[in-house]
Amino acid sequence: MNVLVTGGAGYVGSVVVAELLKVGHQVTVYDNLSQGHRQAVPAGAELVVGEVGDRRALDLLFESRSVDAVMHFAAMIGAAESMQVPQRYFRNNCANTLTLLEAMLARRVSRFVFSSSAALYGNPERIPIEESAPLRPTNPYGESKLMVERLLDWFNRIHGLRYASLRYFNAAGAAGALGEDHRPESHLIPLTLKVALGQRDHVAIFGTGYPTPDGTCIRDYIHVLDLAAAHLLALEALTQHDRLIYNVGNGRGFSVRQVIEVARRVTGHPIPAVATTPRPGDPAILVASSEKIQRELNWRPKYPDLEAIIASAWEWHRRHPDGYNE
Ligand code: UFG
Repeated sequence: MNVLVTGGAGYVGSVVVAELLKVGHQVTVYDNLSQGHRQAVPAGAELVVGEVGDRRALDLLFESRSVDAVMHFAAMIGAAESMQVPQRYFRNNCANTLTLLEAMLARRVSRFVFSSSAALYGNPERIPIEESAPLRPTNPYGESKLMVERLLDWFNRIHGLRYASLRYFNAAGAAGALGEDHRPESHLIPLTLKVALGQRDHVAIFGTGYPTPDGTCIRDYIHVLDLAAAHLLALEALTQHDRLIYNVGNGRGFSVRQVIEVARRVTGHPIPAVATTPRPGDPAILVASSEKIQRELNWRPKYPDLEAIIASAWEWHRRHPDGYNE
């Protein structure tokens, strides 16, 4: 298949590109490199630098090659940042996605795989979270992803768009030469590992008064390779199905303190941690039920062990202490 991957120079996008290439798909990466890295685009994929909100550029792109499916990773991902500049999230994540969908519609490209988020659920009533749980985001980032899911639903009903929406829990770990390098970094595991590398003197714990056993937030960390595998299965399944919505997580939660403890074991570094105030918009507990994707697409996490996930991230950070160099 010819697959257009927006955000294919980013963390999850680049790993999916590598996996698509491995099984013989042709891949065009479309990325504005605002967050992504040229070096993260796997050899074998063509990189086109451009904006998702640029309709003219998208028209030229779709005219110049045949595209069977679009995988849409390009987005802003900072839940905390979205509490300060919500407009950036609604512009980039919603309005630009609508432009992309319009461009696809004009060229009759009818398969779409979307990077959605556990942030849709807000503070869930029940753990593990099933796809049918109420959708009540606690920040504009989550709201922006929910709005796209609503758009997709109407495009499916009215225009026959075939789509899969994958609600990611916390992507983590590395896949060979591909790893996590956000600038500025805001994610717990890379920030913790930067302490072990000697680049920071401590890691902050955002809030210790949450209603969890140790008072810190609980998340479901999923290996980026397992997340990537879910994308390939979803893409394939769109030949038979036209509307797929799945959580992708491991089904096990770890607190911030537990993550730091595992990182200490993996790195052999004491990793000092300092408790600070909670981060606005952070739900206390997000743990997935991934039973639906397991049942329907036969997806199984191959690397569910948190220690192995953190070890793979550590390996990448040691080899790339300054992250990607371009
Ligand atoms: N945290 C700290 N200290 C830090 C960084 C994070 O205590 O320096 C805490 C956060 O408060 C949170 C947990 O560690 O409780 C994980 O935080 P991350 O920033 O690593 O990840 P988030 O859970 O905030 O967000 C991630 C993705 C989002 C996605 C969400 C869904 O970045 O895109 O998972 O679960 F929506």
